[in-house]
Amino acid sequence: MGKKLVIGSSGQIGVELIESLSTIFGASQVIASDIKPSKEIKTQGVDYISLDVLNKSKLLKVIKEHNISEVYLLAAMLSALAEKKIESAWNLNMQGLFNVLDLAKEKHINKVFWPSSIAVFGPTSPKINTPQSTLLEPSTVYGISKMAGERWCEYYFLKYGVDVRSLRYPGIISYKSPPGGGTTDYAIEIFHAAINNQVYKSFISENVSLPMLYMNDAIQATVEIMNVDRKKLTVNSSYNISAMSFNPKELTKEIQRIFPDFRISYEIDFRNEIALSWPSIIDDSIARNDWNWNPAYNLRKTTLEMINGISKQLAN
Ligand code: SER
Repeated sequence: MGKKLVIGSSGQIGVELIESLSTIFGASQVIASDIKPSKEIKTQGVDYISLDVLNKSKLLKVIKEHNISEVYLLAAMLSALAEKKIESAWNLNMQGLFNVLDLAKEKHINKVFWPSSIAVFGPTSPKINTPQSTLLEPSTVYGISKMAGERWCEYYFLKYGVDVRSLRYPGIISYKSPPGGGTTDYAIEIFHAAINNQVYKSFISENVSLPMLYMNDAIQATVEIMNVDRKKLTVNSSYNISAMSFNPKELTKEIQRIFPDFRISYEIDFRNEIALSWPSIIDDSIARNDWNWNPAYNLRKTTLEMINGISKQLAN
């Protein structure tokens, strides 16, 4: 068994995936890599390598030198930022994936994790209980790149036997490392405002509901799908997963249980349009059946964890 390489280890998910993988498999079995090191997390014992996923020859060198067998490809440009940087988003999201898939096809690595997103769905997809397989007409650059990526993952699996596994992450809520450039980022910013006694100005309108996951569940799902017997997987593209759905109004109410004076105001921008094109509630029953996906954090538990976590962070 070789080591696990996380590409994009300084991002919102990367810092927590590094922590989790090193706890489970040992720090010496995990290599962190990014274009810039993380300020948030001390990756004690985990080697960090400066790496741009678009540099395929350096990627191959790292894989060989460090005896890598598994790659977690988290480097990507998210929905809101991708709308502003169309070409570089498409290049990073697609070429980054091809570089890793091709190295797997050439047998330099034997397993790949690549996240897709609820952004693969678009205005014509069913909004409620959105099925695993349905009309996919995404209306964002990010969504188009994720939809195409899913198709390529399945293609590489069927044609070349590449063991690539994937989840359609919904909005992921966490506090250890900030998110960047996403539409669901509002559901994190709001907690920081509440704790700092500020009115939160939401760029998503009050009744727009989106599927969400607390980070611990997202990490749990990622580790689970990477370690389940491949024969159990009936979806070769990317699995729907989610734990809860809420809108800004409902999230505000929940926060007000702890901070009764907390207030929200609305100043919507282009991100509201993106949110409106995505599902409200996802049907993740196939993940639940195939590999026992079972999230632990609902809205209430997530709210408590976020408030405790950010408060502790501020106190330190
Ligand atoms: N959190 C992502 C975004 O908002 C969705 O996958 O772009």
